[in-house]
Amino acid sequence: TALSVAEFLAGKASAGSDVTVKGWVRTKKDSKGGFSFINIHDGSCFGTLQVVADNKLPNYDSEVTKLTTGCSIEVFGTVVESQGKGQSFEMQAKELQVLGWVEDPATYPIQPKPHTMEFLRENAHLRPRTNIIGAMTRVRNSLAQAIHRFHHQRGFNWIHTPLITASDAEGAGELFRVSTLDLNNLPRTDKGDIDFSQDFFGKEAFLTVSGQLNVESYCLAMSKVYTFGPTFRAENSNTSRHLAEFWMVEPEVAFAKLPENADLAESMLKYICKAVLDERQDDMAFFAQRVDKTCISRLEQIVEQDFERMEYTDAVNILKNSGKSFEYPVEWGVDLQSEHERYLAEEHVGRPIILMNYPKDIKAFYMRLNDDEKTVAAMDVLAPGIGEIIGGSEREERLDVFDARLNAMDLNKDDYWWYRDLRRYGTVPHSGFGLGFERMVAYATGIKNIRDVIPFPRAPKSAEF
Ligand code: 4AD
Ligand code: MG
Repeated sequence: TALSVAEFLAGKASAGSDVTVKGWVRTKKDSKGGFSFINIHDGSCFGTLQVVADNKLPNYDSEVTKLTTGCSIEVFGTVVESQGKGQSFEMQAKELQVLGWVEDPATYPIQPKPHTMEFLRENAHLRPRTNIIGAMTRVRNSLAQAIHRFHHQRGFNWIHTPLITASDAEGAGELFRVSTLDLNNLPRTDKGDIDFSQDFFGKEAFLTVSGQLNVESYCLAMSKVYTFGPTFRAENSNTSRHLAEFWMVEPEVAFAKLPENADLAESMLKYICKAVLDERQDDMAFFAQRVDKTCISRLEQIVEQDFERMEYTDAVNILKNSGKSFEYPVEWGVDLQSEHERYLAEEHVGRPIILMNYPKDIKAFYMRLNDDEKTVAAMDVLAPGIGEIIGGSEREERLDVFDARLNAMDLNKDDYWWYRDLRRYGTVPHSGFGLGFERMVAYATGIKNIRDVIPFPRAPKSAEF
């Protein structure tokens, strides 16, 4: 039988039985008595399988002793209970076949020693072989699967919203343009330069910044829907919290007002954090030991403690009376900066906060105007250690109020004709939010830079792979 490393270490085959395992060499040590210890990984779990190979193997001198980090091998051998501490089972090899050598071991980038995250980013194609990126990948997967389970169990339909779109869903003007350039027949400007303004089959098109507008159309038919896919933002911000391409989870619920929306966000975060704690104890133990010792307790806090709910207006007063000198001063009406969000979540209440009812002037066109006519029914979820991880709102479902808002914001009604139709035909109150998936992965793992929680980061000056 063939086993993964995870299955092997979990004791799926009993001691004494013969099995096959395939993977990559992380380390190899030769002992004087004519035997070697080879540790192999295959991505299935944090742990590695220790293989003991000795000079009874016909290729021991010719191949086994020449193995280096990164070689791929297939081993057939006997399961033995391990004497060494830290692992329960190891393998005594009966046959070892080298599937792929490492061409030049001295220049192989992924050596079994700590590398800087910058160095690993430059080797994004090989970094999944490291402990940290392997662990991050499994945690990321666990979160993604839990997001789908959460919605599926509650009767949500998963909607595959388009990536190429005509609309600026956030109205923030941070769009990447899509064009149909025929490389053999490039359009030219008068000066002879390539005309990059060429449109998408004759119509202006962009990469989507959010699936929300499209998912609203399905919400006003299917009632409970969500989208989970890549989104793109051309904000040229070189920070550890922003990517040009990131994944977003966006549920949208018909007949739901802001308080229910906040409850849904809290339940979802609790569900997915619990899934990681249950499923990825091996990886989380590593993150707690090597990356951020608070990462497990932060996830436990999300699962166990109720989130604080707070009005924007109250938050501003708390910040003004905090006695702290912030880099950006706070007044009613300003957008909160990450330093403010972190003060509120970390120092003031010490747990996640759902901040609600923001001034309308700092929020998107689609958010529902409150009766005070100064604020909109918006909410952000702020988590200690990271700040905003979720942004959402109740949507403006009243056509006249929506049109007045478009007008006031100098947005063109015709650009939103189909979105306005949703308000003309059977409109209902509805709400939704967006979880920045990489912010969530960073939160769970404690990894500081958002570029290290996505397989191939896209940010200013990084799109090589
Ligand atoms: O607050 P945002 O812009 O909200 C929306 O896009 C809404 N359409 C969501 C909705 O109501 N359906 O973005 C949502 C979240 C943020 O809270 C943040 O976590 C994340 O997406 N985010 C980013 N993550 C990585 N890189 C960026 N450049 C991000 N911009 C936003
Ligand atoms: Mg936001």
